[in-house]
Amino acid sequence: MHPLQCVLQAQRWGPLASVSWLLLRTCRALSSLPSTACPSPEKQQEDGVRKDFSSRLATGPTFQHFLRSASAPQEKPDMEDPPPYVTVEELLGRQRKVYLETYGCQMNVNDTEIAWSVLQKSGYLRTRNLQEADVILLVTCSIREKAEQTIWNRLQQLKALKTKRLRSRVPLRIGILGCMAERLKEEILNREKMVDILAGPDAYRDLPRLLAVAESGQQAANVLLSLDETYADVMPVQTSPSATSAFVSIMRGCDNMCSYCIVPFTRGRERSRPVASILEEVRKLSEQGLKEVTLLGQNVNSFQDRSEVQFNNAVSTNLSRGFSTNYKPKKGGLRFTYLLDQVSRVDPEMRIRFTSPHPKDFPDEVLQLIHERDNICKQIHLPAQSGSSRVLEAMRRGYSREAYVELIHHIRESIPGVSLSSDFIAGFCGETEEDHLQTVSLLREVQYNMGFLFAYSMRQTRAYHRLKDDVPEEVKLRRLEELITVFREEATKANMASVGSTQLVLVEGHSKRSATDLCGRNDGNLKVIFPDVEMEDINNSDVKVRAQPGDYVLVKITSTSSQTLKGHVLCRTTLKDSSAYC
Ligand code: 5AD
Ligand code: SF4
Repeated sequence: MHPLQCVLQAQRWGPLASVSWLLLRTCRALSSLPSTACPSPEKQQEDGVRKDFSSRLATGPTFQHFLRSASAPQEKPDMEDPPPYVTVEELLGRQRKVYLETYGCQMNVNDTEIAWSVLQKSGYLRTRNLQEADVILLVTCSIREKAEQTIWNRLQQLKALKTKRLRSRVPLRIGILGCMAERLKEEILNREKMVDILAGPDAYRDLPRLLAVAESGQQAANVLLSLDETYADVMPVQTSPSATSAFVSIMRGCDNMCSYCIVPFTRGRERSRPVASILEEVRKLSEQGLKEVTLLGQNVNSFQDRSEVQFNNAVSTNLSRGFSTNYKPKKGGLRFTYLLDQVSRVDPEMRIRFTSPHPKDFPDEVLQLIHERDNICKQIHLPAQSGSSRVLEAMRRGYSREAYVELIHHIRESIPGVSLSSDFIAGFCGETEEDHLQTVSLLREVQYNMGFLFAYSMRQTRAYHRLKDDVPEEVKLRRLEELITVFREEATKANMASVGSTQLVLVEGHSKRSATDLCGRNDGNLKVIFPDVEMEDINNSDVKVRAQPGDYVLVKITSTSSQTLKGHVLCRTTLKDSSAYC
């Protein structure tokens, strides 16, 4: 029997207190494998590795070793300094092929790029073909129950693949990364013996070690949450080299503790990446010719770089008027307005967006900056979650319906023509028909351009412990349907107002539906479709050009739906020159 090292850390909410514990458990992942009279060369080789591994384990790490690393989250595992029970060679990928599959939000797409960057450095290769993979890693989401169910179902499919592979060649290793690994921890290893590794959102640097341990047939897990991990020095690998846009992670985690949300538990405390490393990444992307950067974070506008002492003199807490926090207001540091200003100066031809913000962090200076700076898109996501002040209080959102509506008016006054989007949850604990109708009326009042609407899914959060999930499933779904219908009607009206206008569109490529049409996005992030025809270049009317991905073009809008705009192209332009026409 081999001991399995499984370091679990729980983060306790309190002044920077984190409690770590070590779970040493015994388990033999391979004990359930079919035994054969004459083991294959691979099996013999694997047995050798396992024996070697166990002898090193016996003399290797001590309880103190794990406690040391668990209580020092700043220490990053280093290829040159492996733990005593694995060698540097075992940390290497030796050209094994990794297949990465991403579920959930854009943060997970970014996490996939980080995980891949770490593994690539270790000598792994990437494959897009599941059948030829040596390692399959699922980057998972826990936000709603359905997201987790999708992963359990996927594991059933992968089980057959793994069993087949055991008989043929080098064993297939399967890993669960991200939020689900963090939330369920060893429950996953117990329920699905075929899972070899678990890595929480702050443990991607540890992937080579976890995979090295897995090579010996052990299950391995690292679900330590960190107070400072931002992967600032891990440059994500751009997965689509022809892309016009990229996401740049600027902060991780969330301190808001909305009562329905699992994110603070799976992604840990809020921490921001140093401004200098963000600017370096944006500069690189600009040099590569990318035309759009979206700053990414769970609470992107709560950004607060406190990495240097001199940043911490500021006194302002930078909250929106009428909004409060569930935590002690944070002062000082380089804030979001400063970062946005700096990022937008890197390349005036590069569009800047950000997601996902919290309504509480929109001080006047950030609105002013968005209004003034040509290349910051006039598009704001303002997740309301509900239109009822009573429900908002139960959700612990820190604002009333009135404060939210006032903020909407203030934003529209400060940034004329701004495009607005929101998230809503239907059927939260205790939501009455009257509360629901208030959400319907908020949708009508604001007339969002885009919306993300969900039925409430109970997670193990504050609401789980203190409130009752008392809205029947069919009522949740009926209310959700109603919200979707109203949102679509209002978005259609809002988009109709743009018929006849000229819009600046960043071309992405051909439309999926028609090879004769091009597709791009306007400043408000709405999809715009237009025929792929020759056009003039605004700076050189002598030549006719065909728009390419990454070009800016002016499009006259002729028709709209709730999701897309259609029009005809006027000319190719630049972001700077377009301001005279839009
Ligand atoms: N159930 C349904 N939707 C949820 N969201 C977060 N937690 C839940 C939950 N338990 C939604 C919120 C959030 C978006 C990312 O997901 O609307 O803004
Ligand atoms: Fe979840 Fe609220 Fe944090 Fe958004 S702000 S991630 S909804 S806890």
